[in-house]
Amino acid sequence: MELLNITASPRGDRSRTLNVSTEFLNTLKGKYPGLIVRDLDLFKENLPEVLGGSVDAKYAFMSGGVPEEDSMKSWNEIARYSKEFLAADIYLISSPMWNFTIPYKLKQYIDIIMQAGILFSFTVNGVEGLAKNKKMICVTSRGNDYSNGSGMNEFDLQEPYLRTVFGFTGITDISFINAQPMDFTPDITSASLEKAKAEARTLALALELA
Ligand SMILES: Cc1cc2nc3c(=O)[nH]c(=O)nc-3n(C[C@H](O)[C@H](O)[C@H](O)COP(=O)(O)O)c2cc1C
Repeated sequence: MELLNITASPRGDRSRTLNVSTEFLNTLKGKYPGLIVRDLDLFKENLPEVLGGSVDAKYAFMSGGVPEEDSMKSWNEIARYSKEFLAADIYLISSPMWNFTIPYKLKQYIDIIMQAGILFSFTVNGVEGLAKNKKMICVTSRGNDYSNGSGMNEFDLQEPYLRTVFGFTGITDISFINAQPMDFTPDITSASLEKAKAEARTLALALELA
C-alpha cells in the first residue's frame, strides 16, 4: 500500500499545514507500519511547464493522432507524473489556502497530471475517472475561518475545487481537515492548530486501508 504525500507549502518546519498533516501521517504510520510513503514536495520539485510539445502531444492524442518526436519527449516527462500519481493507493495533500484557493505549484501539478487516457477517459457515456477506489486526505490551513456559519464559507474555493478536480479522476472518498483561522491572534492560532491535530489523529486512527 503506497501513500503519495504531496506537499504544497513552501514554509517547511514553520508551516501550520504541515504541522497538522505530519500529525496525521505519523499516526497513520503508527497504525500501518508497512505503509510506503512517497514524498512529493511541489515547491522543491522541478515541475515541467505545461506548454509547447506536451500540449501539442496532448491534442494529437485526443484527436487520435500520433505526436511528433519532439513533442513526445515533453509529453513523456508530463505523463510520468500522471502515471506516478495513478500508481499510488492513497493520497495526502497538504495545502495552505492562497487567494481563496490553492498555491500555484499545486495548480501546476494538477495541470500536469490531469491527462485523458491516464487519469480519466472519454467514453460514449461521457467522462470516466480512472483513479477509482482510492482515498484522499486533504489537510489545509487558512488565515481566516471559512467553516459553515462563519459567513465566509462561499469564499472557500479551495475545498470545492479539490473535490471537483479529483472527483473527475474517480477519487470521491476525500476527507478534509481544515485548520482555521490561523492568522487572527497567537492564542486562536494555537487553539485551532490543536483542534485540527486532534481531528487528524482521529481520522488516521479511523482510516481502514485494504
Ligand atoms: C500568498 C498567500 C495568500 C494567502 N491567501 C489567503 C486567503 O485567500 N485566505 C486566507 O484565509 N488566508 C490566506 N493566506 C494565509 C494562509 O492561508 C495561512 O497563513 C496558512 O496558515 C499558511 O499555511 P502554512 O503555514 O502551511 O504556509 C495566504 C497566505 C499567503 C502566503
